[in-house]
Amino acid sequence: MSILIEGGRIVTGSDDYEADVYIEDETVSMIGESLDIGADRVIDARGRYVLPGCIDPHTHFDMPFGGTITADDFESGQTSCAFGGTTCHIDFANQVRGHSFAEGIETWHGKANGKALIDYGFHIIVVDIEEGGSLEELATLPDLGVTSYKMLLAYKNVLQVDDETLFKVFRLATETGALAMIHGENGDVIDVLVKEAVDQGNLEPRWHAKTRPAELEGEATNRAIQIAHVAGCPLYVVHVTCEESVDAIARARAKGWPVWGETCTQYFFIDDTYLDRPDFEGAKAVFSPPVRDKRNQPILWEAVRSDKLSAISTDHCSFRMSDQKTLGRDNFALIPNGAPGVEDRLLMIHHFGVNEGRINLNRMVELLSTNAAKLFGLYPRKGTIAPGSDADIVIFDPEREHTISARTHHTKADYNLYEGTTVLGAPEVVMVRGNILVEDGELVAEPGVGRFIERARFGQELKPARGRS
Ligand code: URP
Ligand code: ZN
Repeated sequence: MSILIEGGRIVTGSDDYEADVYIEDETVSMIGESLDIGADRVIDARGRYVLPGCIDPHTHFDMPFGGTITADDFESGQTSCAFGGTTCHIDFANQVRGHSFAEGIETWHGKANGKALIDYGFHIIVVDIEEGGSLEELATLPDLGVTSYKMLLAYKNVLQVDDETLFKVFRLATETGALAMIHGENGDVIDVLVKEAVDQGNLEPRWHAKTRPAELEGEATNRAIQIAHVAGCPLYVVHVTCEESVDAIARARAKGWPVWGETCTQYFFIDDTYLDRPDFEGAKAVFSPPVRDKRNQPILWEAVRSDKLSAISTDHCSFRMSDQKTLGRDNFALIPNGAPGVEDRLLMIHHFGVNEGRINLNRMVELLSTNAAKLFGLYPRKGTIAPGSDADIVIFDPEREHTISARTHHTKADYNLYEGTTVLGAPEVVMVRGNILVEDGELVAEPGVGRFIERARFGQELKPARGRS
């Protein structure tokens, strides 16, 4: 199937120009002015942006967590991605304590097999390197296309690792070419604060944020940065929420250390007052790190504009209010941590970032696509529109009005953090490798189109067509 996209405004991380795009055999084959070429399908994109498909480097689909399993599996999660203009995501495959890393990866392949609508990769979450996993085994994961190791400094007795493990895995990453990632919050101190709050009968959702102060994010982020520096290891910090960790990352970057940070859509828009909403509604915004004081929001915008932070992900980890968040009705510490968001990221960042003048279009593409592709071994196959790259494309109508609502979204979560927000600008056509997924608000593809992508090692390019179908 060949497609000719005519007359659109092509916006990549670095360019902005009007041209036609010719797609053949799932890749961009030619870009030029007024291409005189026949195609099976011609799409008139005049007045539209032609963007590289968005890449979400931080999702949790079909994940057991907080005493339940996320509302979205790969099918509903990726459908939600597609409607939101995301054509590739990297999900976290969990190692189970006492079990090998390979088991974690195979489990996640099983969750995605046959259900995939968009392309995807996996990071591994490292929980233990003594009982089930070993450093030797972890070293083999990049050969499977899993080229990033994540460790969490929070969730004591569940996912948290100690500094010894952190350091050893950082050193291994320098040898194997995997990118190390951390969730920066001090889980030991949080554990004390949570127990105290519960003992004192402070059980409402607002205590989720009160027991996870920003200083503990700044401390853990800075600790990981310093330890990574001793290990000589490049580091990616996930879901940065506050000035304390932005400052730690900015300091390291100013010294030329290979450190990058991401934040997530929700931290620009939801602040800690949301947790005070009556009738347990605050539980919708219980995720970690928690929502912060509103004064952090302009700090995050400035950080993404000035490249102190390099990516915006979603940390999509959806739970229903009806029967999942309610596990913590009487105790905030039992509310499953996480919220949906993959469908809303491009809409919200385009409207409030670009339309309102906080970032320009090129920077939006870098933050939502190109930088994740470069850091996580997907570039130049993904993250740009260039001859030879995968035809992962969003035709985006900047004049299309859309009101975000749980009544119309495609995640299985029964609420939306941005309920009722009207934005100007929305995807019109979304395609992965030239396969049209969404057109004019309708899903027009079947699960099975998406492929697992074996990512390249950190700093290396991903050549076309290394997919596993
Ligand atoms: O609350 C969140 N973010 N849940 C998902 C797990 C994590 O911490 O990223
Ligand atoms: Zn997460």
